[in-house]
Amino acid sequence: MAGEAVAFPAMPADGEMLNRIFLALAVPALLALLLPSPAIAADDGASIFAQACALCHTPTRRSLDKKRLTRHEWEAATERMIGYGAQVPKAKLPELLNYLVRSHGPASGPPAKK
Ligand code: HEC
Repeated sequence: MAGEAVAFPAMPADGEMLNRIFLALAVPALLALLLPSPAIAADDGASIFAQACALCHTPTRRSLDKKRLTRHEWEAATERMIGYGAQVPKAKLPELLNYLVRSHGPASGPPAKK
């Protein structure tokens, strides 16, 4: 019994090969499960903006850089954008609004030069 493949006991002659393929697929899949995904783990407003808004709003296309809106206005706009298909998880909305008001609110001064 000693030299036989453990994972596939009834495997034909090329069981060893399949075992390797299995490992090659299983190891990355396991790592993906164990390591936190940056897309899910990142929970600050700027990264939510990057994920949910930046595909339609870039500095050069439909830019929001010069916008200075109140929290209420950002909220209304974001609700409208969700209607356009923006993917903002409900739980992340306050964080996104915090970011927008902080960086693009009435008190955040003239648009930053980048
Ligand atoms: C699917 C593309 C798309 C996504 C994603 C998107 N937007 Fe928009 N956005 C638009 C379009 C198109 C307009 C212009 C039409 C309008 O104002 O309704 C717009 C307009 C706006 C405006 C008004 C701009 C103005 O000049 O008054 C704001 C503010 C805004 N978006 C914010 C956001 C925010 C914040 C997000 C992320 C939560 C976002 N958008 C995601 C397409 C998008």
